Amino acid sequence: MEKKNIDWANLGFGYMPTDKRFVANYKDGKWDEGVLVSDAAVVISECAGVLQYSQSCFEGMKAYTTEDGHIVTFRPDLNGERMEDSCRRLEMPVFPKEKFVEAIAKTIEANAAWVPPYGSGATFYVRPYMFATGPVIGVKPADEYQFRVFGTPVGPYFKGGVKPLTLRVCDFDRAAPHGTGHIKAGLNYAMSLHAIVTAHAEGFDENMYLDAATRTKVEETGGANFLFVTKDNKVVTPKSSTILPSITRRSLLTVAKDYLGLEVEERTVYFDEVKDFAECGLCGTAAVISPVGKIVDHGKEICFPSGMTEMGPVITKLRDTLTGIQMGSIKAPDGWIKVIK
Ligand code: PLP
Ligand code: COI
Repeated sequence: MEKKNIDWANLGFGYMPTDKRFVANYKDGKWDEGVLVSDAAVVISECAGVLQYSQSCFEGMKAYTTEDGHIVTFRPDLNGERMEDSCRRLEMPVFPKEKFVEAIAKTIEANAAWVPPYGSGATFYVRPYMFATGPVIGVKPADEYQFRVFGTPVGPYFKGGVKPLTLRVCDFDRAAPHGTGHIKAGLNYAMSLHAIVTAHAEGFDENMYLDAATRTKVEETGGANFLFVTKDNKVVTPKSSTILPSITRRSLLTVAKDYLGLEVEERTVYFDEVKDFAECGLCGTAAVISPVGKIVDHGKEICFPSGMTEMGPVITKLRDTLTGIQMGSIKAPDGWIKVIK
């Protein structure tokens, strides 16, 4: 199989249509088998539940080419489980996680020529998503849904690759107590758009959201969880019922403990403590681990000792170990890597 002629090293985090996408439809109370199709266009009713009341959810994951030439993906079962959770909370029909994993495998395999080569610095981002296609005009769940998966080659999520980021403490909230912050609902991201546009306009790379109820606890950013490192090398990550349970963050805690022998803590992190940490990073599928150099709280700067030019030593080790596991140069824990071909 010949790879596409793409300048892999200079890709940003953007969309380009690839050859095939997976489509399954839910009608009369059941999912059909689903097929791979070539047409990237979606045609739905003007009154579809997704258009009227934003009934949609999605996932994000990556496929990698390993050193020995296989195409693999990372813990897809956890994305499948999280999508099941999103569906239940949004009154959407669950797309079973076993079928989910099959669908992403088919999509990746059918687009193998678009999966960036090992060592190129790029990866293949896979986007499973579901939305209500059935018409609704009263506020209620639709009767019909579509589940789709496409993939697109991507470079780093943040411009400048792994250069430390500057965040601002955001005055907007991302998620309400007992709301939808813990699931991957499209509406959470619509909510964050004004916050990210204004952050960028003010020269910041991302927003740090605090908890909506007390505004004293660190939550997450618009697209990644936080990871902090204490001055004595302990890895600390916020625990909250209103943040997305990041698969990258959960994996990094295992990497920190079992591969690097570090102590880890998943707990409430108060904003007041942030100034005392030695390193800070954002973790997620798209972000991998991106270092944070500075957080600005209404003019007051918190500058991490790791600085604005380089990634701190612990975050570097975490990143290298995780990406080594994903690309096959470091042995993965059982069940973490699914070989596609
Ligand atoms: N938090 C938010 C709000 C996200 O959108 C994402 C991305 O999926 C993450 C965290 C990271 O999650 P994961 O590591 O599962 O990609
Ligand atoms: C991901 O990391 O997969 C995300 O979904 C984050 C962002 C692109 C929304």
